[in-house]
Amino acid sequence: MAKTVCAVLILVAVFIHDCDGDLRFASYYGDHMVLQKSPERAVLWGYGPEGAQVTVSLSGPGTQKLSPVTVTEGIWRVTLDAVEAGGPYIVTAACQSSTANLTDVLFGDIWLCGGQSNMLFPTSEVFNASKELAIAAKYPHVRTFMASLIQSETEQTDLIQVELPWSVPPEHVAEFSAVCWLFGRYLYKRLQYPIGLVESCWGGTPVEAWSSSRALQQCGQLDNHGPRGNSVLWNAMIHPLLNMTIKGAIWYQAEENTYYHQDKYNCSFPAMIDDWRMAFHQGSGGQTAHDFPFGFVQLSTNVKKSTSDGIPNIRWHQTADFGFAPNPRMQKTFMAVALDLPDEKSPYTPLHPRDKQDVAYRLTLGAMAVAYNEKDVAFLGPFPNQVLSTQKYLKVHYDQKVSVTPSKDIFEICCSNIHTPCGPKSRWFPAPIMEWGPTSVQLSASACLLTDVVTALRYAWRDWPCDFKACPIYSASGILPAPPFIVNRPPEGIQEL
Ligand SMILES: *[C@@H]1O[C@H](CO)[C@@H](O)[C@H](O)[C@H]1NC(C)=O
Ligand SMILES: *[C@@H]1O[C@H](CO)[C@@H](O)[C@H](O)[C@H]1NC(C)=O
Ligand SMILES: *[C@@H]1O[C@H](CO)[C@@H](O)[C@H](O)[C@H]1NC(C)=O
Ligand SMILES: *[C@@H]1O[C@H](CO)[C@@H](O)[C@H](O)[C@H]1NC(C)=O
Repeated sequence: MAKTVCAVLILVAVFIHDCDGDLRFASYYGDHMVLQKSPERAVLWGYGPEGAQVTVSLSGPGTQKLSPVTVTEGIWRVTLDAVEAGGPYIVTAACQSSTANLTDVLFGDIWLCGGQSNMLFPTSEVFNASKELAIAAKYPHVRTFMASLIQSETEQTDLIQVELPWSVPPEHVAEFSAVCWLFGRYLYKRLQYPIGLVESCWGGTPVEAWSSSRALQQCGQLDNHGPRGNSVLWNAMIHPLLNMTIKGAIWYQAEENTYYHQDKYNCSFPAMIDDWRMAFHQGSGGQTAHDFPFGFVQLSTNVKKSTSDGIPNIRWHQTADFGFAPNPRMQKTFMAVALDLPDEKSPYTPLHPRDKQDVAYRLTLGAMAVAYNEKDVAFLGPFPNQVLSTQKYLKVHYDQKVSVTPSKDIFEICCSNIHTPCGPKSRWFPAPIMEWGPTSVQLSASACLLTDVVTALRYAWRDWPCDFKACPIYSASGILPAPPFIVNRPPEGIQEL
């Protein structure tokens, strides 16, 4: 009797676990993809019939066969053992006679590329596009993937749609994000192992759309039912990716926030970074670092001779008001300064400069230093560490050697009675560069009347502060522009000499 019951149960079990059905990987696992290499372990997941036992195996330069996992609520999930950079591999998910496979899979570093139109800006539209596209075929180990532009009111488990599947260059490079592609290509040149690029971005979008409600709450923005859809892109274009193991992220966004919650950006942007880090770490079961490196582009330019302070304010807020990155509020971040790369004649409007090569190159320097801990990589432009003042002049000391071109008005001073701090309505006056040394510049303070003192100093505080690669202060090598800054009288700013 007992034996019969047992046999019946087994038959039922086999019937329920029948795999003649839909066994497949989640949307963003595909042929030609890159999976995160060691020391992290790649997470793979997909769909199958409820209760089925799925066995995932890997074959290629090395092999793995994982213990079977059970499909629960329609989903199976495994974490591979760590795999060194290289390939190609075949990844197979099998359940009885059903299999799903991914072919030509490489292991390397996965970088997520997010933001708005300047990240979406395709390689086909950059300067020297035909040359960039012609050499793309030389980089078959830099693979690209792009999520579709979709919004959702609720957090999605998987991408609703894929825009460009995992591809081997030169296929789809033309439509792919130029900054993302070039960043990947430059990284590959240095690292010499596969790079996987995941583009998930959308033009004209504020940071709030890419932020979870947790992140918005950090900045008191939860009740903000604005027209631009809090969290809608986080829900559809980021949340689905959380369970993939990634190395890091780069980001080119903030233009939209010059008009929308500008004064919150110094909170909302760092809060989004913190939240993405926490969520990717959790989603990957601890594989993606809890403090994964996050690079971003400080905004370039928009309107020549503009007197609006929207862009300067946002540039400052992009750094959580420190002026540089990484900084105490934004650890393990890196920033590509781009205010010296204007493109007045851009056919895509000046807000979309065509020189993405320099932007990507500067990001790569930051990644080498911050993400790959390479020593002696200069990636920070000069930043002042002391400003001394007398009635007649100001002396700005930088944290490194500088290359200086004199300017009459790139530095500006705010003058007022010492008891009246400089405010938004104060007038600013040019402070010409009079002389300079290896690590300092001396500015004239003569614009302040005898009765006034310099209460604040700012540098490049304009939408469009200089011509192409012609800002007055660069690193000694001449390639890293000084980022803009604003500094007030003590406690931490201008000191009386
Ligand atoms: C991968 O799966 C396809 C069908 O889905 C099959 O035709 C092919 O033989 C499989 N390739 C390998 C290498 O397992
Ligand atoms: C952010 O900027 C606003 C507006 O300039 C300022 O009032 C606020 O103190 C800043 N907050 C932080 C956290 O830096
Ligand atoms: C992704 O990770 C989140 C957080 O750990 C988890 O709630 C969710 O079920 C995971 N999704 C899949 C498909 O594994
Ligand atoms: C375009 O190519 C020319 C000629 O090689 C080069 O001088 C220039 O720097 C390139 N521009 C960019 C943005 O890479």
